[in-house]
Amino acid sequence: MKNTMIALAVAGLMTLGTTSQAGDITAGKSAYSTCVGCHGANGEGGVGPKLAGQPAADIVQKLNDYKAGKQMGPMTSMMAPMATGLSDSDIANIAAYTSSL
Ligand code: HEC
Repeated sequence: MKNTMIALAVAGLMTLGTTSQAGDITAGKSAYSTCVGCHGANGEGGVGPKLAGQPAADIVQKLNDYKAGKQMGPMTSMMAPMATGLSDSDIANIAAYTSSL
């Protein structure tokens, strides 16, 4: 637990200054816990596409599209309900986190 806290603090410090209007990576990591089953513990993908390394702005855009009920890929019906429950700040935080992976 203590190590986790330190790791999170270090991760936060490393990204300070590189992300301006970005979300909170630490909060994003905890919000991302419900996504791990389909997108992988490190955003490497699984049932759902790889998220790691995608620009934060793209993740924000895609999540808002799912939330708005847009048909995206062939498995949109699996992903859309996940996006519906996210607030704007959840989305910003998650995008900050996955783009940091
Ligand atoms: C039940 C499995 C499942 C869960 C849980 C899930 N997703 Fe997805 N996700 C998918 C699938 C499948 C797709 C592709 C859907 C399609 O074909 O449009 C997807 C697509 C996405 C995309 C678009 C990726 C791209 O490159 O097109 C993003 C971003 C995303 N998910 C984020 C999340 C986040 C954030 C969470 C947690 C809040 C989450 N997902 C939870 C299955 C899941």
